[in-house]
Amino acid sequence: MIRYTATCALLMALAGGAQAFGPGQAPANNPLASDRAAAGKGEELFGRNCQQCHNSRGKGGKGPQLVKGAWGPGGANSDGQMYELIAHGRPGTQMGGFSTSLKDEEIWQIIAFLREEALRVKAAEKLVQDDDEIPYY
Ligand code: HEC
Repeated sequence: MIRYTATCALLMALAGGAQAFGPGQAPANNPLASDRAAAGKGEELFGRNCQQCHNSRGKGGKGPQLVKGAWGPGGANSDGQMYELIAHGRPGTQMGGFSTSLKDEEIWQIIAFLREEALRVKAAEKLVQDDDEIPYY
């Protein structure tokens, strides 16, 4: 019992001492969502860490695209899922985890960038679609 209490106290101390959004307690939604400056930093980080596989602006290359469909606006994949994938990777694939090379805040900055890019891609697609609907005479 004493040991159990001590473990609990230790875990609580660790959790309390962790950063604002520490490991294992990723919020479901990006705490930096709609923070333009964060998205700007994320763009830079994406270019340095992810682009070589996911192509420019996450449009997909060696690794899958990260801005449309389930990753698009209103898509099924949450910020929390994206965070987990970036932090811990997908074992057995080329997608390694970044939890040791990037800070939590930097991972959320990348997510802010990708979500903003997803909105931009959707808006651009809609423009093309609307344009297609203009009849030619
Ligand atoms: C060495 C190449 C490589 C790098 C670098 C890389 N990825 Fe990936 N990533 C992949 C591959 C390959 C997959 C698909 C894994 C699989 O087979 O399921 C993937 C999967 C993902 C997925 C899940 C996509 C899905 O639809 O299943 C996310 C999200 C992701 N990567 C984000 C990132 C981010 C953000 C970075 C930069 C911090 C990054 N990746 C860096 C290769 C890479």
